[in-house]
Amino acid sequence: MVISCSSFGINGIDGYRVMVEADMQMGLPAIDVVGLPDTAVKESRDRVRSALHNCGLRLPSAHFIFNLAPADIKKEGPVYDLPITVNLMVLSGHVRADVSNLAFIGEVSLSGAVRRVDGVLPMVIKAHECGIKEIFVPADNAREAAVVEGISVYPVEHIVQLKDMLNGELPKEPAKAPESDEERGIEYVPDFSQIKGQLEARRAMEIAAAGGHNILLIGPPGSGKSMLAKRLPSILPQMTFDEMIETTKIHSIAGKLGERALITQRPYRAPHHGVTPVGLGGGGSGIIKPGEVSLANNGVLFLDELPEFSRATLEVLRQPIEDGQITISRAGQNCTYPCTIMVAAAMNPCPCGYFGDPTHACTCSQKRIRNYLGRISGPLLDRFDIHVEVPPVPFEELRSKEQSESSAAIKRRVDAARAIQHERFKGSKTTCNAKINAAEFERFCLIDKEAEQTLKQAFEALGLTARAYDRVLKVSRTIADLEQSEIIRSDHVLEAVQYRSLDRKYWNR
Ligand SMILES: Nc1ncnc2c1ncn2[C@@H]1O[C@H](COP(=O)(O)OP(=O)(O)O)[C@@H](O)[C@H]1O
Ligand SMILES: [Mg+2]
Ligand SMILES: [Zn+2]
Repeated sequence: MVISCSSFGINGIDGYRVMVEADMQMGLPAIDVVGLPDTAVKESRDRVRSALHNCGLRLPSAHFIFNLAPADIKKEGPVYDLPITVNLMVLSGHVRADVSNLAFIGEVSLSGAVRRVDGVLPMVIKAHECGIKEIFVPADNAREAAVVEGISVYPVEHIVQLKDMLNGELPKEPAKAPESDEERGIEYVPDFSQIKGQLEARRAMEIAAAGGHNILLIGPPGSGKSMLAKRLPSILPQMTFDEMIETTKIHSIAGKLGERALITQRPYRAPHHGVTPVGLGGGGSGIIKPGEVSLANNGVLFLDELPEFSRATLEVLRQPIEDGQITISRAGQNCTYPCTIMVAAAMNPCPCGYFGDPTHACTCSQKRIRNYLGRISGPLLDRFDIHVEVPPVPFEELRSKEQSESSAAIKRRVDAARAIQHERFKGSKTTCNAKINAAEFERFCLIDKEAEQTLKQAFEALGLTARAYDRVLKVSRTIADLEQSEIIRSDHVLEAVQYRSLDRKYWNR
């Protein structure tokens, strides 16, 4: 007798359907799994056999054969424990239901408890696309699964409970989609109103947010660089539903959703500078895990103490920042994760941190400073459209009771500038000024004669490279958009050039 039920695997950020077929034949008692299973899937046989035994669910003395179809894709991880268990319960008569239209995902412990697995959201989305009406998932994954509408998601805690539900002896309660922000897991977001002074840096953050530009903050310890970066998501446009799903899928696959059901706020990821290339870009053993660049997808990646990151780690960043996606290859297997991100980075101007600070003396030698700054290569520096100095805020200003402008107020201007870009890039893949490509450049970055002249003089005065030219123009475009100006004027250009003047001051490039 051959029976089957559905389960799911993960490829990139999408789920794919796996039919778990089972057959029972006369012969020596054994369980075999075919269909390109990895080690975790092979071990499933022993886990499931123990679990059933420990729950008093006896198997007849027979040879059970499982086939995971399609057979040409490698099946990974412990998610097939549950469908295998269900098929065994059906074949041995413990479950008297037709399971062929049902789907199951979950790991089973030796005691029969059902454990959470990674990637449940993309799997349930796929199940829905395949026309499946009912899916059984680990209770710990039910919240994220319930976000998908049009499919009944049943949380399962234990295989005996599942048996009783399938036999109609226990009522089936579908998980409810989270309704309130609190249920969805919306967290408290810090606000720009808490930052005193720092007008120039705040303005730079606003421009960065308005055009999607990467930004580099330079200043002594304690000047508020981390504070500023952490507030960047609060002035970015609201996530679209598609962006929420895409980002949540990645966190689901990484097993990093925690208590959240759906990620509705732009992520902010701040990996420590000791992060490995794999931690940043993705990889690892078993299912290829998304790295920090992808966990930050549709949000902000903050690199604090930029010169402390290893060269190998920073190298991982270079291409994905431009492409908006990262492809990880391992043992002949390729996997692509999105990473549409804004990068914010912070650094001290020297090893001790106080070079150029009016209130502290710097204790570093010229050579040490040069070595330190030299860790940031020219091409990497160029990835940041905006460089801004964050000097310490004077004591009186810090003590001031006056509230600064709120994130909501800044966000309104950002949204208006983004609306212009939305119109501008209709029908193009470009999403914001920072991503304008070479072919679109002439069309979108028109400047008047006077501005052209200003730009030329500034470049000569600052000795800027040709590489910086495009970047300065893109930032000028954003500054003009913030002013609702169709034409890029010379004052827009002048301000944009300012955000590149630190090249000269610190790097002498
Ligand atoms: N402009 C500011 N307004 C209010 N508090 C500030 C400001 N700058 C610094 N602080 C205080 O100093 C602390 C250190 O700031 P932080 O952002 O960590 O500095 P940095 O990252 O530059 O070393 C903050 O937690 C905050 O309490
Ligand atoms: Mg800091
Ligand atoms: Zn110093």
